[in-house]
Amino acid sequence: MSTELGALRGARVLLGVTGGIACYKAVELARLLGKAGADVQVLMTEAAQRFVGPATFAAVTHHSVPTDVFDSPELVVHVRLARSADVIVVAPATANTIAKMTHGIADDLLTNVVLTATCPIVVAPAMHTEMWEHPATRANIETLRGRGCLIVEPEIGELAGGDEGVGRLAEHRAILEKISDELSHGRDLAGVRFLVTAGGTQEPIDPIRFIGNRSSGKMGYAIATEAARRGAAVTLVSGPTHLADPDRVDIVRIRTASEMRDAVLAHFDEADVVVKAAAVADFRAVNPATSKIKKDAGLPAISLERTDDILAELGRTKTSQFLVGFSAETEDAVPNARKKLAAKNLDMIIVNVVGGPHAGFEHDTNQAVLLTAQGDEVDFPLQTKSAMAAAICDRIAHGCRFSKSQ
Ligand code: CTP
Repeated sequence: MSTELGALRGARVLLGVTGGIACYKAVELARLLGKAGADVQVLMTEAAQRFVGPATFAAVTHHSVPTDVFDSPELVVHVRLARSADVIVVAPATANTIAKMTHGIADDLLTNVVLTATCPIVVAPAMHTEMWEHPATRANIETLRGRGCLIVEPEIGELAGGDEGVGRLAEHRAILEKISDELSHGRDLAGVRFLVTAGGTQEPIDPIRFIGNRSSGKMGYAIATEAARRGAAVTLVSGPTHLADPDRVDIVRIRTASEMRDAVLAHFDEADVVVKAAAVADFRAVNPATSKIKKDAGLPAISLERTDDILAELGRTKTSQFLVGFSAETEDAVPNARKKLAAKNLDMIIVNVVGGPHAGFEHDTNQAVLLTAQGDEVDFPLQTKSAMAAAICDRIAHGCRFSKSQ
């Protein structure tokens, strides 16, 4: 087994197997975990036992497979199991178990253990495309992610119904690598103070109307969530969004570019890393009307003035902060972003080309190029914003020394 899976050696892995056809793949996953040196304890839901027998897992892991809270003479078997795991892996995770985990339902041994556990949790969903794409499952997955669960996204491929689509359990290798990552540097940002901005700003024209932009805040929220999951202390300065507050993140809500500047400057000194994913308005109305502009009064002339460039100001005044900017461009994306990287004295910039399908504003997926002050250029192909947030945090963790807090 390669060294990338080194963190599995000696790790106590609790593998929760839930009821889907991909249960048969969980047998191989258990075997590979054991081969990598992990001590694997399998728990099965009732539905899982319809697909594969506990004896199969017991033979592969050399541990009996408890299936019921009342199986054991021990009264609090779920507490012992939860405390004895270094990581819990739910694979395959059905939509039903994901929903139960999201809502804190504990009606079988596995969900009791999950509800008791304080260790990292890795969830590898497998289900039909319709179930994976259902708004209920999407919301549940985002909630779990917000709480710090690592989701190993299902893959596109042939499904049990003979059809093709997203929903197939991720490859064993991908799951093993995620578990190993979680064990080795799952909390590699512990003690690091992140200041993240997200969403668009709104510049009033009158008490009812504003100049805004299409930013949904999803990318910035994904970065705040990922950094918090990896142990960072995160302050998120957010423009108006429709997104739920991420867990374990301090949120400061603002509306205008000027409010964002005040909030960012108030937290800048104590930050180690600043990620400015917000789409800040470049222009605002001079003296917005104090009462509603009525259309009968003719076409209004609205004079605009520049807002302050917050990121440029941070670049001028930074001490040891690692500064990450974002750049939204419609043409000459990389050369323009490289100019911004230098002009604003940034350490890193992520450039989105706006206008492509499935990427940029409002989408759950994104495609980007990451540039560093050292001249690196990394392509991020189309992927979920959560996956991209993890890749960006990897690069940040690699690129800066967090000299202030460690
Ligand atoms: N930014 C900022 N304050 C502003 C405008 C932008 O802090 N008033 C930050 C954004 O949060 C982003 C970066 O600067 O991280 C780049 O934003 P972008 O809109 O792509 O570029 P601008 O610098 O505003 O330049 P232009 O609009 O001309 O492309």
